Amino acid sequence: MCPNTVFGGSLKVKKFYGENELRRMYLDFFESKGHLKMNSFSLVPHNDNSLLLINAGMAPLKPYFTGQEIPPRRRVTTCQKCIRTGDIENVGKTARHLTFFEMLGNFSFGDYFKHEAIAWSWEFLTKVLGLEEDRLYPSIYGEDDEAFDIWTKEVGVAPERITRFYRDPETGECDNFWEHGAGPCGPCSEIYYDRGEKYGCGSPDCKVGCDCDRFMEVWNNVFTQFEGDGKGGYTELAQKNIDTGMGLERLAVVMQDVDSVFDIDTMKAIRDKVCEISGKTYQTDAMDDVSIRLITDHIRSSTFMVSDGIMPSNEGRGYVLRRIIRRAARHGKMLGIQGNFLDKIAMVVINESKDGYPELEEKKDFILKVLTQEEEKFAKTIDQGLAILDEMEKKMQEKGQKVLSGDDAFKLYDTYGFPMDLTQEILEEKGFTIDEEGFQKAMDVQRETARKNRKTTNYIGADATVYDEIDPAITSEFVGYDNLSVTSKVSVLTTETELVEALSEGEVGTIIVEKTPFYATMGGQQGDKGVIRTANGEFKVEDTIKLLGGKVGHIGKMVSGMIQNGEEVELVVDAALRAKTCKNHSATHLLQKALREVLGTHVEQAGSYQDADRTRFDFSHFQAMTPEEIAKVEQIVNEKIADALPVVTEVMSVEDAKKTGAMALFGEKYGEKVRVVSMGDFSKEFCGGTHVKNTAEITTFKIISESGVAAGVRRIEAITGENVFAYYKNMEDELEKAAKAAKATPATLVEKIEHMMTEIKSLNSELESLKSKAAKEALGDVMDQVVDVKGVKLLATSVQGVDMNGLRDLGDQLKGKLGEGVVVLASESDGKVNLVAMATEEAMKSGAHAGNLIKAIAGKVGGGGGGRPNMAQAGGKNPAGIPDAIAEAKTALESQVK
Ligand code: ALA
Repeated sequence: MCPNTVFGGSLKVKKFYGENELRRMYLDFFESKGHLKMNSFSLVPHNDNSLLLINAGMAPLKPYFTGQEIPPRRRVTTCQKCIRTGDIENVGKTARHLTFFEMLGNFSFGDYFKHEAIAWSWEFLTKVLGLEEDRLYPSIYGEDDEAFDIWTKEVGVAPERITRFYRDPETGECDNFWEHGAGPCGPCSEIYYDRGEKYGCGSPDCKVGCDCDRFMEVWNNVFTQFEGDGKGGYTELAQKNIDTGMGLERLAVVMQDVDSVFDIDTMKAIRDKVCEISGKTYQTDAMDDVSIRLITDHIRSSTFMVSDGIMPSNEGRGYVLRRIIRRAARHGKMLGIQGNFLDKIAMVVINESKDGYPELEEKKDFILKVLTQEEEKFAKTIDQGLAILDEMEKKMQEKGQKVLSGDDAFKLYDTYGFPMDLTQEILEEKGFTIDEEGFQKAMDVQRETARKNRKTTNYIGADATVYDEIDPAITSEFVGYDNLSVTSKVSVLTTETELVEALSEGEVGTIIVEKTPFYATMGGQQGDKGVIRTANGEFKVEDTIKLLGGKVGHIGKMVSGMIQNGEEVELVVDAALRAKTCKNHSATHLLQKALREVLGTHVEQAGSYQDADRTRFDFSHFQAMTPEEIAKVEQIVNEKIADALPVVTEVMSVEDAKKTGAMALFGEKYGEKVRVVSMGDFSKEFCGGTHVKNTAEITTFKIISESGVAAGVRRIEAITGENVFAYYKNMEDELEKAAKAAKATPATLVEKIEHMMTEIKSLNSELESLKSKAAKEALGDVMDQVVDVKGVKLLATSVQGVDMNGLRDLGDQLKGKLGEGVVVLASESDGKVNLVAMATEEAMKSGAHAGNLIKAIAGKVGGGGGGRPNMAQAGGKNPAGIPDAIAEAKTALESQVK
């Protein structure tokens, strides 16, 4: 390439600027305008769930725009690594699309606004880079007259050279309103560069906004004044900001006057390497060109992603990376490349870009290793997968089908590692598509099954896990009896499904190190929590577990930055939680001994669990403990705490340990050496757990429950130390609340309750008598309702809200009033029905039978019942049937009377 390029339509001679040089010039220029030059942020978004990968210069700066965080300076300039995968299927097919690009940007957080932003963009393009003013065309947001005036009056651009872009009246979209998902956004003003007719489409309508390569947008000045919710809602930001963006690769296209981004100096170097390895020449075969461009872009993306700690995986960012690496690998095959080659391409990416991104050089070995590993992993199955896919295609052709089933696509993914879009791409070439919904369904089913099967151990009997893949020679040393923080080296990293070389922000996984202070769940004691710190990141340890072969797994999440295999890290146990757990564990030893003293030596441990909150101890004993026994055990444990017994641990042979009389777990097999924990002369147990140094540290002990868990096994739950104080505090608060509700004080509450109970009792009896009185009154002169049934008087009626006792009372009274006859009463009370029937001596003689009568009518109220000839009662569930039941009483009596 000629070092000096003569511009097509102008006589000006422009110097050749390499991509790296352009980046420096830009940052230096804005530094001279008072901006703080900052390094590119990681591609992994920090505290931003709206993004998988950083996609614009402003993305990592969002909190500064919204005012949630104070920026280090109110003017900042960066060259930001960005990834956009929205058009990934076009990458390679065109010479325009890229997944990775660099964005130059100058930002103002409530500092300068439109005037300066516009003036400086013009100054940089025309004065620093020397672009000709008559080839530059600004555009503005339709109604933004302020920007129009600045361009015309302050910068001096002729009004006819400025294009206004309006919102589409139907979709509401506008080229000059910048927003990307949720976050700060606003109207913008772009600058286009006319690259001359040789890049044009030749149409007489070709102008700014035309789709061809002649007018190229180089700069975007966004006047960030809104916060968008990503769903079309906007709120005005308290401060006015500037967000600008200039694609570095595009700028290089303009400055180097080359056809496309694949022809600029840095990209061409990568492209040339692809050609060298494959023995192809660019621009001789259209299909080859697609592959050459795709590999060039994808390996550039992958190299940068891995340098930021993203690892190939089946989830989120990791999956984006896996897809692009595997696509690149397949296109390498299409070009006829044999064996691994991605590392060779990545090496060129590193060399070309390390000027702006020194991390590429620092992580070189790591990047090359990760790419090669992934390439090898895929190489094992790609041929088989392609053959299977070939079969599938044939079958579809035979059947005249055009859509590959979701299950088939999933099989290729699951067994042969073909990401869905790779299968899609291969099929597309032959006019087939995939049932994407079906694929997603199959994927969901598998995820659900995997979730269910996931176990936190790899002991025999558990389902296969990622831990099975770890080199058995790797072990971990536990140094946490005396240390709560140590520095050690990472020996294994895993996600939930595979071994990896690094974990990055947001990823969940397991870390194994050579030496750890973290106690792994064992012998009932819950594993430690805490953090593992790397040079630039932090992993939150949620649980620590034992793995086969003496390995300790720290399970948790990378909350910031990244961690690499082989890295030196600082492991810090959460000391407060550990201390609480120790208290609970030591108290459990005292408890076991106290139980044996109080209940007898038949007490054996049957299970135990300790964490920071409590201890749970299961033991053999054949009846419930009495309150006195519980109190006695509690008292002994508290005495031993008050005695401040020293806690001593010794490692000795099992023989020696047994001689000391130490308690061992019944039926447990021990190794040659055991650890014996003694608390004064009171307790001696085989135990690998962590303990207090002196029983006094436990402070206090409280049993909160005693219950049975199986035949002959009792369970005690207890708390210690500050948890006991918290327990009493909580009780005190409840007592206060109860006293307040009863309008008493805690001291007078019992007396008050007794008082209230007596009052309730007397009120209840008063209420009952009032109710039956009221019911009687409500009946009015019941004698009106008496009917004659073949010479027997019948009074059948209903009353409101009277319970069974009240109803019987009422029946007795009415029977008296009636003299001789039958009384039937029904009442609804609390949604249920009560029925009573009574017959006098004379009525019975005539054939009346209260029991049979109630039987005959109870069905009407959805119930049943019966009783003696003189008196019977029944209940029912259907109050609506009361009138029918009353009416039925007459018919029933009729059939009884002779
Ligand atoms: N954030 C603006 C863009 O990406 C500058 O174009």
